Amino acid sequence: MPPEIHIDLAHGVLTLTLARPDKKNALTNEMYGTLADAIEGAELDANVRVVLIQGDGDMFTAGNDVSEFAAIAVGNGPSERHVHRFLHALAKATVPIVAAVHGKAVGVGTTMLLHCDYVLLAQDAQLITPFVNLALVPEAASSHLLPLRIGHARAFEMFAMGDPLGAQTALAWGLANKVCANDLLRAEARLTAERIAAKPAGSLSAMKALMRQAEMLVSQMDMESAKFQERLTSAEAREAFAAFAAKRKPDFSKISQQ
Ligand code: COA
Repeated sequence: MPPEIHIDLAHGVLTLTLARPDKKNALTNEMYGTLADAIEGAELDANVRVVLIQGDGDMFTAGNDVSEFAAIAVGNGPSERHVHRFLHALAKATVPIVAAVHGKAVGVGTTMLLHCDYVLLAQDAQLITPFVNLALVPEAASSHLLPLRIGHARAFEMFAMGDPLGAQTALAWGLANKVCANDLLRAEARLTAERIAAKPAGSLSAMKALMRQAEMLVSQMDMESAKFQERLTSAEAREAFAAFAAKRKPDFSKISQQ
C-alpha cells in the first residue's frame, strides 16, 4: 500500500500531506500513527521550524475513517488507537503549525485546525463538524476550543446541525487567517510557512506555549474521549455507521435516548 501520509522536510518546513484521495483522505489508525510520530518528532528535531499540513485530491480530509468507527462499535477496533497520541501531540506542540485547507474538512479535519497557528483556506473550503449526525460527540478539545473561539451559539449550531461553513464565514468568525484562490493555496501556505521558519524558533515556541494551556487541553481531550468511546458503541452510532456504509440516510426515530 502506498504511504498515505507524504512527509517532506525542506527549508525548515516539515510538510505532512494527507494522501489517500480515493477515500477523500479519510484518516485511518495507521495514518494517525504516522502523523503523531511526525509531530512528536518535530518537537525534538531542531531542523523542523514549522509543520505544514495539507491534503491531496479534491478535499483536505473527510475525517476519521467511518469504517474504522464501525469496527470499534462492534468490538473489532485496533488494540492501540493512535488518534489519542495524534491529538495529544497537537495539544502539546510548541512548533508552529500551518494548515492549508481546500474542499471539505470534516470532523477532525476541522477540529485539528483549532490547534493550528495559521490556517489558510481555499475559496472552496468547507468546515464541517457532523459529530451529532454520527451520534458521537466532538473531540480534539473542540468542545472547549470552538465555543471559546466563535461563541456558544455558533459552536452549538456547527456541532448540532453539521452544516458546512464556507471559507469567508470561517474567516469572519476567526477560524482562519486568510482565504486564497484554490490554485494559489499551496504556494501561499508554503510562503507563510517559510516566513515563520525564518523567525527565531526559540521565541516562537515559547510564545506558542504561553498562548495555549496544553495540560488543560489534554485533560479536555481525555474527557471527550471517554464520552466518545461510550457513544461509539451506542445503538444510535451503529445506525449512523450502517447508514454510511449502505449510502442511505440514518433513521434514529426508533432508538430511544440511552
Ligand atoms: N471514512 C471512510 N470512507 C470514506 C469517508 C470516511 N470518513 N469519506 C469518504 N469515504 C469514501 C467513500 O465511502 C467512498 O468510497 P467508495 O468509493 O469505496 O464508495 C469514497 O471515499 C468517496 O466518497 P464519496 O462519498 O463518494 O465522495 P463525495 O465527494 O460524494 O462526498 C463526503 C464526500 C466527505 C461529503 C462524504 O464522503 C462523507 O460524508 N463522508 C463521511 C464524512 C464523515 O462523517 N466523517 C467522520 C467525521 S467524525
